[in-house]
Amino acid sequence: MSQRRFLITGALPYSNGRLHVGHIAGAYLPADIYVRYLRATGADVLFICGSDDNGVAALKTAREEGITVEALTAKYNRSQLDAFTGLGIRFDVYGGTHQPHYTPMHEKISQEFFLKIHDKNLFVKKKTRQLYDPQAGQFLPDRFVTGTCHHCGSPNAYGDQCESCGKATDPLLLINPKSTLSNATPVSRETIHWYMQLNQLQHRLREWLESKRDTWRPSVINFALGQIQEGLPERAMTRDLNWGVAVPLSDPDAAGKVLYVWFDAPIGYVSFTAQLLADQGRSAEDYARYWKDPECKVVHFIGEDNTIFHAITWPAMLLATHDSDSIQGVRGEYQLPDQVVANAFLNIKFPGKDEEKISKSRGTAIWIEDYLKDFDPDPLRYYLTAIAPESARTAFDFDDFVKRNNSELLSTLGNFFNRTLTFVAKYFDNQVPAVGERQLPDREQIGRCPETVSRVAEHLEQCRFKNAMSEMMNLARAGNVYFDARQPWKTRKDNMADCGTALNVCLQTCRTLTHLMEPFLPFSAEQCAKMLNIGDAYRQWSLSSVELPAGHQLGEARILFKKIELEEDAHA
Ligand code: 2FM
Ligand code: ZN
Repeated sequence: MSQRRFLITGALPYSNGRLHVGHIAGAYLPADIYVRYLRATGADVLFICGSDDNGVAALKTAREEGITVEALTAKYNRSQLDAFTGLGIRFDVYGGTHQPHYTPMHEKISQEFFLKIHDKNLFVKKKTRQLYDPQAGQFLPDRFVTGTCHHCGSPNAYGDQCESCGKATDPLLLINPKSTLSNATPVSRETIHWYMQLNQLQHRLREWLESKRDTWRPSVINFALGQIQEGLPERAMTRDLNWGVAVPLSDPDAAGKVLYVWFDAPIGYVSFTAQLLADQGRSAEDYARYWKDPECKVVHFIGEDNTIFHAITWPAMLLATHDSDSIQGVRGEYQLPDQVVANAFLNIKFPGKDEEKISKSRGTAIWIEDYLKDFDPDPLRYYLTAIAPESARTAFDFDDFVKRNNSELLSTLGNFFNRTLTFVAKYFDNQVPAVGERQLPDREQIGRCPETVSRVAEHLEQCRFKNAMSEMMNLARAGNVYFDARQPWKTRKDNMADCGTALNVCLQTCRTLTHLMEPFLPFSAEQCAKMLNIGDAYRQWSLSSVELPAGHQLGEARILFKKIELEEDAHA
């Protein structure tokens, strides 16, 4: 069989803040698990991410922090990369749509996209009115205007939304509007923008989405088809800002305008791929191998709020560049995503409080940087996968995190390795015991190993991460039950051969578990591989049920997971 090829992306985080557990659970951890799994099956995979630097969010935060937008986006790009690295989320490239090393390529490809869509007459140029700050001398993005809400009268509504009544607002409808740049009263002025006629593509989009009915999560496919059912609106793809990718038209009306951030952000997936390949000494055009070849599957991992952009707008942009009528794209044309995997949001629950939304301003976020100061990465990877919001919101509950670490990671998985390896070290010179005649329970336990591998693989192929990990834990649980039933602490006294057979089976189970753990718990899997002395073989699932030969020398047994003590327990 030829090697499967994938291009996997994690939604580009805005570079105006740090990462918290909600971000990780939403997109990046499932993506990383998927990538690690695909690689273990021998697939050629590129894993692409980077920061979303353009747009208003960064400008606003830079003003609040009193630094330049370049400095701000560089700072958070770095902090995000550190958080990902600390959690073992390893991209092939972590670019940034306005990070100096990536900007030229990003601008070039973004502008090519815009021009191609422009040449196909899919934009209309339209006059519109927008608030302008006469003192700052610029048009105001919606978030840069505050005023009284025309729905509820709250005095602190933003131009796009009133946080008091939650309703959408319009900067032109705010009563007593104020510019947050200068505090001046803005005036309504005419401006011109390029609107993409999404409705011209909606039949082809619908046909493409219909082909995904059986393979995408219902929340994503139903939402996307629902949008098409309602009819797709025109979307302004340009903005009056001085930060972003310049609109590449010689038309004087385009002067000083930039591409809408949601136009250029997904192009980051392509431009970072191209830059990565160029940095590796390959031709930047090699990106076509991943982006323009139907043999390669493109999979986007996102949080639910990004669904419309990845299931409608971005596919529309990709389709708009095609010269053929093919919905998927023939060789040489951009391929539409094979999968868009969206998770729901993660709430949070602190001890003694109700479940609530994660909010930076209310201080209810658990920042990755802070988490990593106190704990190891794998317990968080474990917990966020165990409670993954794959079909509905779930909550990070700190007590539950501690409980699962102690009872599942420590008492089930860690305990199985620990009791097996310490026993073999003590009674078998730390070498794999010879296997005697295997009786039914031994054969059943050995049989569970490849069966579990197939079940985990089947779940992972379908992006069911929670179920996949729970199958892995079932194998560890079965291992403990088997260990108890075989009672090696007794047989070692009167039937050393039988004791050896049981421990041999336990070690083979440890081997399979090590392979299975790698995508979910990469740091612990690496440690298990050292304890089993199997080098890098655990990264290949085809070897997951190859038995450790009798006499194989094992490494030093070490404790895999630490107990987490809650403060009140520690002081009890
Ligand atoms: O919601 C967000 O954080 C966006 N910055 C995601 C962008 S994803 C992609 F299109 F770049
Ligand atoms: Zn309101």
